[in-house]
Amino acid sequence: MSRRIAALYRAVYGGFLRRLPESTAIAVGQAALRALPLDRLPLFRLDDPALAVRLGGVPLPNPLILAAMYYDPVILRRAMGLGFGAVTTKSITLNPRPGHPQPNLVRIETAAGAGFVNCNGFHNPGLVAFMRDLRGLPHRAPLIVSVAGESIEDYVRLVSAVAPHADLVEFNVSSPNTKQVYDWSRRSDELARLFESVRAAASVPLIVKLSPDFTEANEREIIPAALAAGINVVNYGNARRIDEPRLSQGAGGLSGPEIFPATLANLRRIRQKFGADLDIVATGGVDSPEKAVALLRAGATAVGYFTGFVTRGPMLARQILTRLRADRARAAR
Ligand SMILES: Cc1cc2nc3c(=O)[nH]c(=O)nc-3n(C[C@H](O)[C@H](O)[C@H](O)COP(=O)(O)O)c2cc1C
Repeated sequence: MSRRIAALYRAVYGGFLRRLPESTAIAVGQAALRALPLDRLPLFRLDDPALAVRLGGVPLPNPLILAAMYYDPVILRRAMGLGFGAVTTKSITLNPRPGHPQPNLVRIETAAGAGFVNCNGFHNPGLVAFMRDLRGLPHRAPLIVSVAGESIEDYVRLVSAVAPHADLVEFNVSSPNTKQVYDWSRRSDELARLFESVRAAASVPLIVKLSPDFTEANEREIIPAALAAGINVVNYGNARRIDEPRLSQGAGGLSGPEIFPATLANLRRIRQKFGADLDIVATGGVDSPEKAVALLRAGATAVGYFTGFVTRGPMLARQILTRLRADRARAAR
């Protein structure tokens, strides 16, 4: 059954959605996700206590995380019933943001498969409006609230406000398409102060989302500073910055299978360097059970994806979980 639904999604995506301009396809996809109560169908989930993991001390029913992209409470609520062990919100900013002008998302076909380049620019309703939705959101699966700011004060205000309603808070210091956020990785001293201030502001487990474009700074300065401040979870990571003349900003973040080899390599290096002290969410390019398994075998605590959710459909989580369960059963024999 799950294979048939995955094939149906591929046909709809390949034959219809992919032929529309990307912004229209996304609007159609999100409208469908809002309208169809897919989360009520047990077929998209696989509940098995053997798949449970802990992330920053928080129990997750399984190691799959929907990466940051959605802030609509209906979509977040649906996603919580689609097999994920945790769901991440879009990065919320203090003030509402319209995002960058269209086109801010384009498809890209690479030798590795279909991906996106986006310069979304944090289109979101801002903290005050989002808090109204956040307070009413059930935590059917653990909720990771992502925040993004331009100053230490921004992050302290954001994290303090959302923490009481989040299982974990992820702070995004790596999105490639707003200069102020992307530049955090070039200001390691200030970033270290940011980690200390945010850690002191809330007791909820925190995740730092890293950029794959700053591997040296991540390993030499940023991860050690996070650990020193008492933050022991990283999400590695965000989209990779590339030039893309089709976008309104002329550049954006590449996501999808093209970035998977770097995700795996970055994970391997930091697992070896920082050992078991660090919990690692490996994100970037996962669009098949094999890739998720490869990351978990290489030492990921959990695996995140967004692009695969669109290109492979809502069945992907269940397919990955089925594979993980079969692997565990084989290993136990
Ligand atoms: C349209 C779009 C919007 C995104 N918005 C956010 C965001 O608000 N915050 C964030 O940390 N990452 C954001 N991301 C990055 C994803 O969460 C993820 O880290 C990245 O796409 C790599 O994973 P993937 O290859 O599985 O998509 C966005 C990605 C896309 C494609």
